[in-house]
Amino acid sequence: MDKEIKELLESQINNELQASYNYLGASIYYQLKGLNYFAKLFYEQSLEEHEHAMKIKNYLLDRDQFINLKNIAEAKTDFSNLLEPIEFALNSEKEVTKRISYIYDLSLQKKDYLTAQFLSWFLEEQVEEESQFKNLLDKIKTINDINLAFLILNEKSSNGKS
Ligand SMILES: [Fe+2]
Ligand SMILES: [Fe+2]
Repeated sequence: MDKEIKELLESQINNELQASYNYLGASIYYQLKGLNYFAKLFYEQSLEEHEHAMKIKNYLLDRDQFINLKNIAEAKTDFSNLLEPIEFALNSEKEVTKRISYIYDLSLQKKDYLTAQFLSWFLEEQVEEESQFKNLLDKIKTINDINLAFLILNEKSSNGKS
């Protein structure tokens, strides 16, 4: 396997685990605010990011590659307002889309079609993840009072009416 592609995939394991950790932090923040719907949403997202990391780990092992696991930085559990974690999440998903696209492009250039095929699943997943956070932001912004918007959405969604 090409060294550059391998190292980029290795870093992507780290990025996914960092995202998982960051979303766990956001989940804790919302939980402490009593916003259970948002806490659950970020907790589930955190688990998904962990799964993404494992998918890449398994792919590298299937290709018989040695794997280095890098440091994960601390994650915020406090934010300046309720909107911040969602804006942060949308931006970091856009960043992930760029990174995956870059590795995808490189794998095509280097004729590593196995990796390109493997990454196509991630590209599809990114469309979903970006739109999930974008839709949530749009919904919240329909109400002028942000705190009220969170309360309403939390109540509606907890009752399964959203
Ligand atoms: Fe991910
Ligand atoms: Fe994601």
